[in-house]
Amino acid sequence: MRGLEGGMKPEELLKGRPVAVIGAGLVGAGWAIVFAQAGLQVRIYDADADATGRALAFITAQLKELSSFGLVDDPIAIAAHLKPTYQLAEAVEGAAYAQESVLERVELKRGLMQELEEIGTSDLVIGSSSSGIPASAFTRGLKISSRVLVVHPVNPPYLVPVVELVPSPETSPATVEFADALMRGLKRSVVHVRKEVQGFVLNRLQSALLREAWALVEDGVASCEDIDRTMRDGLGWRWSFMGPFETIDLNAPGGVADYANRLGTLYLEIAQSRTHQEPWSAELISKVEAERRSVLSQDELASRRAWRDRRLMALAAERKGETMP
Ligand SMILES: NC(=O)c1ccc[n+]([C@@H]2O[C@H](COP(=O)([O-])OP(=O)(O)OC[C@H]3O[C@@H](n4cnc5c(N)ncnc54)[C@H](O)[C@@H]3O)[C@@H](O)[C@H]2O)c1
Repeated sequence: MRGLEGGMKPEELLKGRPVAVIGAGLVGAGWAIVFAQAGLQVRIYDADADATGRALAFITAQLKELSSFGLVDDPIAIAAHLKPTYQLAEAVEGAAYAQESVLERVELKRGLMQELEEIGTSDLVIGSSSSGIPASAFTRGLKISSRVLVVHPVNPPYLVPVVELVPSPETSPATVEFADALMRGLKRSVVHVRKEVQGFVLNRLQSALLREAWALVEDGVASCEDIDRTMRDGLGWRWSFMGPFETIDLNAPGGVADYANRLGTLYLEIAQSRTHQEPWSAELISKVEAERRSVLSQDELASRRAWRDRRLMALAAERKGETMP
């Protein structure tokens, strides 16, 4: 699969046709930046017309910030690639690709796919930003299902490069190849998820870590702040540039098999000590909430998010030009 259309510029792959961004919330607006930055014509559509306006204002502000970090050259020229639309049919007319980013609700996503089928888009490929709902849950049995797959980004999509491609059993190989070529052309770091599984790879990994983090707080082993510190000043240092397998390969003299032989029993015993399958209790959630609000008040959340995005921009500027393997 890799290599096919490899290196082709997105506008060549799309033969000059536009892309549609359907759902213009946080993620849709982020995708619009990714597409416009690559020189593609972008139609933005949201069922709530006000959301489209808010997205355009957000994008303009973000492009300005990105430019101050040297991550975009000409914010005004990039913004000129964006066109608000107020009907779904208008957004997808003549488009080669659509990125669906509506709310994470299966019936909404299925309703939208049915609408797209009725509109009669002959060769439109549709990538869904779904965080964990597999495509088959909202496309099974539809005529367009061969042209739909999950293309899951991380927020914000224009700063974090990974995307997970998750086809359903009905997605055609040609659709996967097209999405792979498009995403690589957009300088995304592409992960192929070979089987539909709830949460895909990224959120399953995140869920394993979060499950343990909440349990450690519940057991009184450490504070939220010290758990965050362990990640931020410990595991996260290596994990920001290498994954867990490469990490352990380098952490035993003889490599990964040596590591597994030395520490396999420890990890097995840790896993066996976490057998309960309870949801996070209301009491535990209140405890974590109280601890977080004592270091960051509710009204500071937005400014701290903006701080996070500036840190990500600084990191992206540092890693600019890195080629995606
Ligand atoms: N927020 C994240 O960190 C994140 C990361 C990766 C993927 N995702 C996924 O991206 C998708 C969007 O999430 P978000 O955080 O941007 O949500 P959001 O609430 O910010 O935006 C969703 C938008 O979809 C619009 N919408 C709802 N129904 C619609 C319809 N039928 N047609 C067109 N627009 C419609 C809403 O008006 C809203 O503006 C979800 O599937 C989510 O799981 C989110």
